[in-house]
Amino acid sequence: MPLSHPPIVESQATDLTWRKLWPDEAATQAFAAQLAERLQNWPGGRDASIELRGDLGAGKTTLVRHLLRSAGVQGRIKSPTYAVVEPHQAGSGEAAWPIWHFDFYRFGDPLEWADAGFRDIFAGPGLKLMEWPEKVAGQLPPADWVIELNALDENQRQVHIATQTPRGQQWLRDWSAGSCPAKAPRAS
Ligand SMILES: Nc1ncnc2c1ncn2[C@@H]1O[C@H](COP(=O)(O)OP(=O)(O)OP(=O)(O)O)[C@@H](O)[C@H]1O
Ligand SMILES: [Mg+2]
Repeated sequence: MPLSHPPIVESQATDLTWRKLWPDEAATQAFAAQLAERLQNWPGGRDASIELRGDLGAGKTTLVRHLLRSAGVQGRIKSPTYAVVEPHQAGSGEAAWPIWHFDFYRFGDPLEWADAGFRDIFAGPGLKLMEWPEKVAGQLPPADWVIELNALDENQRQVHIATQTPRGQQWLRDWSAGSCPAKAPRAS
């Protein structure tokens, strides 16, 4: 009896992306809460590297703030605009989770990269969230997720997630399965 080939249903590792419309900031907050929770459960998720792209006012910092709060960061959450990086810590003791919030908007000199010790931060533990990664293109290691935000009006945001690593792809698969978005494999 001839063996039939199993159907090839898996798309290429880098094909899966995710899109959604957030009608208001509450939707952004709900996403942040869910992401904070998932990152703590995915293997390697606590050390994820996530780029946040989008114009001025798109909602990058807003998303980070909601994520930090959901992760349990307390007290005032400073924006890193002048410091380039703002370190945070969620949890404590055994459960301590470092979270690095970068904003490269004013990052002018690529040589600063080596001096600032960012290489060590990226090689070390903790979640890395980067606003304006475009400003340091070529310096950053591949991001697990690239989250792009587009403001449609005052409150609505179009969000698109792409991945640059196999584990990021794995997480996005899990995310898509769990949150039932209109997932769209990119036509190649
Ligand atoms: N759905 C939404 N998601 C995120 N922010 C929203 C949403 N609706 C309204 N906003 C508002 O949009 C603004 C986004 O500003 P935010 O500082 O987060 O932007 P940003 O992308 O970090 O800009 P910048 O490039 O200047 O750092 C905030 O005032 C926020 O309250
Ligand atoms: Mg910002």
